[in-house]
Amino acid sequence: MDAGHEPSLILLCGLPGSGKTTLARRLASEIPAVRLCPDEWMVDLGFDLFDVRARDRLERRFSQHAQELLKLGQTVILEFGFWSRSERDEKRLGARALGVPVELHYLAAPIDELCRRLDARNEKDERGTARITREMLEPYAELFEAPTSTELDLFDEPPSGRTG
Ligand SMILES: Nc1ncnc2c1ncn2[C@@H]1O[C@H](COP(=O)(O)OP(=O)(O)OP(=O)(O)O)[C@@H](O)[C@H]1O
Ligand SMILES: [Mg+2]
Repeated sequence: MDAGHEPSLILLCGLPGSGKTTLARRLASEIPAVRLCPDEWMVDLGFDLFDVRARDRLERRFSQHAQELLKLGQTVILEFGFWSRSERDEKRLGARALGVPVELHYLAAPIDELCRRLDARNEKDERGTARITREMLEPYAELFEAPTSTELDLFDEPPSGRTG
């Protein structure tokens, strides 16, 4: 439990299959925190998971909602993937403007490992997850702008006693 701790914004960054939702679920119950997962909401709202426009609108709405929750003292986890430095900068500055700590968790794994995990997940056909293949993942990995250690240093550390 995070009782007595100040609220924080937690950003989960990584390619599909890197474990964002898995970690978010654990943190949400441990802290506790509100987890905003675009994939699950897209499915529940009847959107195609590859509808980029709907995803963009949902993520913008989630970002506003996150600010409202933070102001109310609630820790929020955003599992958008955050492929670009500019998106991460925007979220960091938004949280800092509220005086709230912001953590960036970068989940990295080799592409073969990501493919293994995604193949296993595709087999299970889990609700709220996109079917991603190696053919899709390889160009995604080219686009992905991994955070450098200098960038990671711009973010806050998790409170002591919390793992992950
Ligand atoms: N650290 C890990 N080691 C091994 N397998 C993992 C790990 N984290 C998650 N997995 C498994 O890999 C699969 C993908 O994980 P998860 O759905 O959490 O990834 P994701 O980053 O949320 O992907 P997406 O961007 O598609 O939502 C799941 O089946 C999960 O059980
Ligand atoms: Mg996920």
